[in-house]
Formats: sequence, structure tokens, C-alpha cells
Amino acid sequence: MKASAISHPNIALIKYWGRQDDGGRGLNLPLNDSVSMTKEGISGGSRLQSHTTVEFSGSIEKDMMVLEGREICGRELERVRLVIDPLRKIAGVESHFSIRSVNDFPTAAGLASSAAGFSALALASSSALGLDLTREELSTWARLGSGSAVRSLHGGFVYWHKGSSHETSFAEKVCEGGSFQLNAVIVIVNEGRKGISSDIGHEHAYTSPFNEIRTELSQKEALLVRSAILDNDLRTVGSIAERNSKYMHAVMMTSDIPLFYWQGETLKVIKSVHAMRERGIEVYFTIDAGPNVHCLCRPEDAPEVQKELECQDHVLRTIVARPAKDPHTIDEHLF
Ligand code: ADP
Ligand code: DP6
Repeated sequence: MKASAISHPNIALIKYWGRQDDGGRGLNLPLNDSVSMTKEGISGGSRLQSHTTVEFSGSIEKDMMVLEGREICGRELERVRLVIDPLRKIAGVESHFSIRSVNDFPTAAGLASSAAGFSALALASSSALGLDLTREELSTWARLGSGSAVRSLHGGFVYWHKGSSHETSFAEKVCEGGSFQLNAVIVIVNEGRKGISSDIGHEHAYTSPFNEIRTELSQKEALLVRSAILDNDLRTVGSIAERNSKYMHAVMMTSDIPLFYWQGETLKVIKSVHAMRERGIEVYFTIDAGPNVHCLCRPEDAPEVQKELECQDHVLRTIVARPAKDPHTIDEHLF
């Protein structure tokens, strides 16, 4: 009962920030629908992937996981069990698990390692347990580990229905990567772990006076972005994504624990994006819970955007990403 999977992170075009009150059940139900691109690195030395091997066996004495060479415990291991316990129950298996996982990109730096990691975990676990679940069903189980992981169960462009229960909060594919021509030039200004995890941040969203309006606007914008993706309309997708990212950061900055994920370097990259746009390059920015910036543009403009940004002193490196294929199981095990 052993299986391995590869999965990619995703960049949200419409953000998930803040959760529905589910009476403490930990369902990670978002306040609004969201939309993303699952991303695969094509230059910059990273494929942007999590590789996870899961084994269940009667000879394993306790549940354990090694992430990036370090045995995890406490809340981190608890989140893994939130995904695996229900799957073990469905499969009727009581054995303990042993897991190893590696990310080929920075962990906890706002590049969505949790999304790639929990998606790979759900896929590898269900395969090791011999379960035959649809991607939509699997997405609901991945969501229990990390909300945004729901969207990484599909490649290409993805829509997460917020739902109102475990079963109704799932992700579906909008289209494959080939139908909407989009690249993300990821500009890394800091690879360190963020000070406050998204897990904690979500809990404080409702304390911002802007939370309600962000939620309302995002629900409408998710539908607009979905149809603009299907129309291959970068201007609409890019301008809404940029705006939606600013709404989320406005909520973060005005919560009772003020969350300033931006750094000075982040603002410099934003200004460069604006300057490039004024020069006629169609490029837009979006930022998740960290200081690093995703610049969204057409594939043919990506080399120019990358060249412009990577020579700046405050930029550590850039990775160009395109829409990824679906996550998949592989025969190469990590132990
Ligand atoms: P990020 O922006 O990278 O998603 P988060 O703070 O939201 O940052 O999530 C980081 C956490 O996600 C890690 O501390 C760990 O608990 C979990 N995580 C990251 N990578 C993996 C992985 N490959 N497998 C399982 N969990 C992972
Ligand atoms: C800012 O999914 O990382 O990237 O559910 O606690 O794991 P948890 O949070 P997470 O939240 C990430 C939110 C975001 C925006 C987004 O991906 O939609």
C-alpha cells in the first residue's frame, strides 16, 4: 500500500481569504468562489512541484511524515491527518502511515507550497489506499488540509465553488492550459518563511471593515474571470486579478492582527509592472500571502518581462510558469 504523486501549486486570480463559520468543524469553506491557474515552472530552475510518497502498513508504529528532510509534528502533522483520516475510514484501513515529501520551490513563502503539498498528499494517499475517487471528490479531501489545495487537483484553469457543506465545496476545471494563453513571471524578492501563516490569517479576515465588500465583489469577479478565461481575454482577466489581489491585501492590512505581507521590494516590482504597462506590454500583477509577485502576461511577452525584472537589484530570481497538466501518480518513490 504505497504510492507517489506529483502536484503543482496554483496562483489565485480571484482570492480565497477568510472562511465561513462552520462551528469549528475545520471544513475550510471559503467566503467566496475563487479562480486560479495551476502552475508549472518552465525556466528559473524549478518545475514548481511537490513530490509525495505515502505508505500504509501494519509494521509502521506511528503516523509520521518527513517534509523537506524534517519530521513534522503538532499542527503540521494534524493537518495531514485531517486529509488522511477520512480517506483511511472510507477504505476501511487502520494502519499507520509513513510519508515523505519534497517541494522543489520555497516552502511557506507565499508560493502555495501548501496547495501543491496537500494536493499531492490526497492523490498519493487515495492511490495507496486503492480508492477510486473523482478529481472533484479528491479536491474536497485535499481542502481539509489546506483550502487552496482544492484547486491543485486539476491542471490548467480552475474554479472553486465555495459551497456550504463538505461535499459542495469542490474544484472543477474551467479549461486546459492551451485554451487561454497565459504565463506567470514569478518575481522572488524573499524566499524566507512568512511570519504568520495563511492558516492563522484567514481567522482574522472578518475583523477588517473591508471584508464584507471584498467577499461580495470577489463572488461577482469570479464569474467574470471564468468567462474571460474562456474568451481568451487577458485584459479582463489581468485587470480583475490585479484589483482582486489588492482587495485581499487591503483586508489583510486592516485586520486586528495587521498582516503586511508586502515588503519594500514588493512595491518596487508593482511599480515596474505599471511602467511596463504604460510602455504597452500587457502585464498585470497578483500577490498571494507573501512578498513575492506573480506577473501575468502572454507567453510571447514573458521573456521581456522576465529580463526587465531579473536585472533589478531587489529581485533575487524569477521563475516563468505556464499552466500545469493535471497532478498525477508516478512510480518513483521517495523511500
Ligand atoms: P505557502 O504560501 O507556501 O502555501 P503556507 O504557510 O500557507 O505557505 O503553508 C505552508 C505549510 O504547508 C507548511 O508549513 C506545511 O505545513 C504545509 N506544506 C508545505 N509543503 C507541503 C508538502 N509538500 N506536503 C504537505 N504539507 C506541506
Ligand atoms: C492568499 O490555502 O494557504 O493564497 O486553508 O490555511 O491552508 P489554508 O490557507 P491557504 O490560503 C491561501 C490564500 C491565498 C489566496 C488563494 O490562494 O486563494
